[in-house]
Order: sequence, then structure tokens, then C-alpha cells
Amino acid sequence: MNDRFLRACRREPVDATPVWFMRQAGRYMSEYRALRKRYSLLEICNNPELSVAVTLQPVEVIEVDAAILFSDLLLPFTAMGLKFDFIKGEGPSIEHPIRHVDDLRRLRRVEPREVLGHVLETIGLLRKELAGRVPLIGFGGAPFTLAAYAIEGGPSTSYQHTKAFMYSRPEAWHRLCEYFADFMAEYLVAQVQAGAQALQVFDSWAGALGRNDYREFALPHTRSIFDRVRGAGVPLIHFGVGATAILEDIAEAGGDVIGLDWRQPLDEAWARLPEHGVQGNLDPLLLLAPRERLFAATDDVLRRAGGRPGHVFNLGHGVVPATPLENVQELARYVHKQTRIPQPIS
Ligand code: CP3
Repeated sequence: MNDRFLRACRREPVDATPVWFMRQAGRYMSEYRALRKRYSLLEICNNPELSVAVTLQPVEVIEVDAAILFSDLLLPFTAMGLKFDFIKGEGPSIEHPIRHVDDLRRLRRVEPREVLGHVLETIGLLRKELAGRVPLIGFGGAPFTLAAYAIEGGPSTSYQHTKAFMYSRPEAWHRLCEYFADFMAEYLVAQVQAGAQALQVFDSWAGALGRNDYREFALPHTRSIFDRVRGAGVPLIHFGVGATAILEDIAEAGGDVIGLDWRQPLDEAWARLPEHGVQGNLDPLLLLAPRERLFAATDDVLRRAGGRPGHVFNLGHGVVPATPLENVQELARYVHKQTRIPQPIS
């Protein structure tokens, strides 16, 4: 069994630096695009056989050291009472976003095991299909990012509805985040019980907050998830984008491994997190660069990691659709080649 990803998460020595990529399954792969011609994203996420197939697509053709469950951060929304769809070229769109305190009444208390039982089934099937080839990562969203999607109704650059709500109705804001945290804590523990061997909590929008606001409006709720999931006994990764200014605060909320975007050199970020492993942190757009530049930037990340136990190689955010598959394949191979430590024969 290839366990170098799990070993690195535990900050144990490894035979080569483990690699996986956020959005390693997706539109840059022709097999995925072919399936998407026949099924919508939600159909794939809600069908165990289809999501197993998509999860395995990158595992078959790229030297990745982990698989990540193919699902979406917002998948729980429908069952919660927030009807949404993915609009081509735009991203998620929620039919009736939460804009007023009264809107909170539309949220339903639901059991993750009941409403997302099919996702847990996908995890079980995946463990069988993977048969120890690589470990399986489960995931979920942090309350701030989920609340921001629920309030904005889709992607945003200013987060104005979110912040207006948070600043003017702090009590309702905290109730909303507690609701998401309760659901997520249970959902993540259920993923581990179903077979997930590590978990990543995405707080993709945390970088929108200044430190004081992160600490007041986001940290307590993310921490309440980590506090409840820690007992499940698997490595926990905590990732935010554009969150360089609040890395220590993100780490304080929880996680064994902190996911880094590309904005701060890896060694400088890691120096701020002496008790943690780190995951990252190549700019995903370097996969559109000539090979020479891609490899030079990769060497820089690896040099800054310095072969210290606790580094998981990844991008600073997801693979973009325009990425040539060959570049992803070459990058994974290159990281392994550059970091491989010869092993004794017996
Ligand atoms: O990493 C993986 O391979 C696992 C799959 C995965 C998806 N979404 C599939 C997906 C994961 C881990 C996610 C998480 C997710 N979803 C996040 C957190 C990570 C991040 O990017 O910060 C967020 C914010 C979402 C919400 C979401 N889903 C957005 C904003 C979009 C549209 C953006 C885009 O790239 O078009 C999605 C759609 C989505 N989720 C796609 C995939 C592969 C696009 C593919 C499609 O339309 O077929």
C-alpha cells in the first residue's frame, strides 16, 4: 500500500514526497468531459458508480499518492433546503439565497447519514476499488465559506451580502455558522466511518476576512468542527485561499496539515507553523507554463520544503480546465523523481 501521503500528514519520513492535486478530477481530463456530455455535475456527484469512476480517472493516469472523493462542497445544500444548480461558465447558483434573518427558518435540520448516504456509499465503493493503491481523502466546507455561498447565492468578489449580514446580524450569523458546523462535523465523521482515510476542510473564501473578523466570525465555528472530528483518528488538512495574513489563525482553528496557496514562499509559511505539516504550494497556472518554468518553480517549492517530514506536494488551488493533462502527469513524476530516497532492498 502506498502510504506516503498519510505518513507525510503525520510528519513521518517518506520514500518520496507525496503528491496530489486539488481538482485532480475535472474538466481538464477528456474522460471527465466525455462523461459530462451525458450527465450534469450534480448527477455525477449523486450517483455512486459515476462519482467512483470520476474519482478514479486521475488515479489511473497520474502518479498521484492520494485520491479525493469526487463530490462538491455545496452538495449538502439541497438537502438543507437551499436549492441550487451549477450554471455553465459561472459556477454554483442558489435559487433563494439567505439574505434576511427570517431566511434561516428555511434551513432544515437533517442527518448527513440519511441525506448524503449515497456519498458514504461512494466512499465505501472507492475503498474497495482502490484496494490500498492510494489512500482516499474525504472533504467538506468550513462554515464561513458555506455561509458565504448561502448568502451570496454564488461566487462573489466583494462578499458584500455576506459581510453586511455578518456585521449587522451577528447573532443570526453565528446561528447559521453553528448550523453548518453541526452538519459538517457529523458528515466528516461519517465519511471516516465509511472509509475516508484523511479529511480536508476547505475554507476557500477565508482570505476575504481580516484577522479580527476571521477570529470573531469564522474561527470558533471551524474550530468546533475540528474539535469534533479529531477523535475520528485520521489526518486533517485545513485549507484557505488568499489566507496568508491569517495562517496562524487558520492553524489555531484546527488541522494537522495546513494547505498553503502560492502567495507566500513555502519555507516562510512553514516557519510560521512549526507544529504543523504543510501542503502546497505551486501556482496552478504554472501548469500552463513551458516545462522549464514549471520544473524550476517546482524545484523552488521542493528546495524550500527541504526534504523535511510533513510536506505534501500540491497546487495552491485547483487545476484549471485549460491545463494540458501531460503537464499534470509530468509534474507528479517530476516531484517523485526529485525527492526519491533510495530504499534498502529488504
Ligand atoms: O478535487 C477534486 O478532484 C474533487 C472534486 C471537487 C469538486 N469541487 C468538483 C467540482 C472538490 C474538492 C470541490 C470543492 C469545492 N467546490 C470548493 C472548494 C475548493 C475550491 O475550489 O476552493 C468550492 C469553492 C466549490 C464550489 C464550486 N463547485 C465552484 C465555485 C464551482 C465552479 C467553479 C468552476 O471551476 O467552474 C464548482 C463546480 C465544480 N466542482 C467542478 C468540479 C470538477 C467544475 C466541473 C464541472 O462543471 O463539470
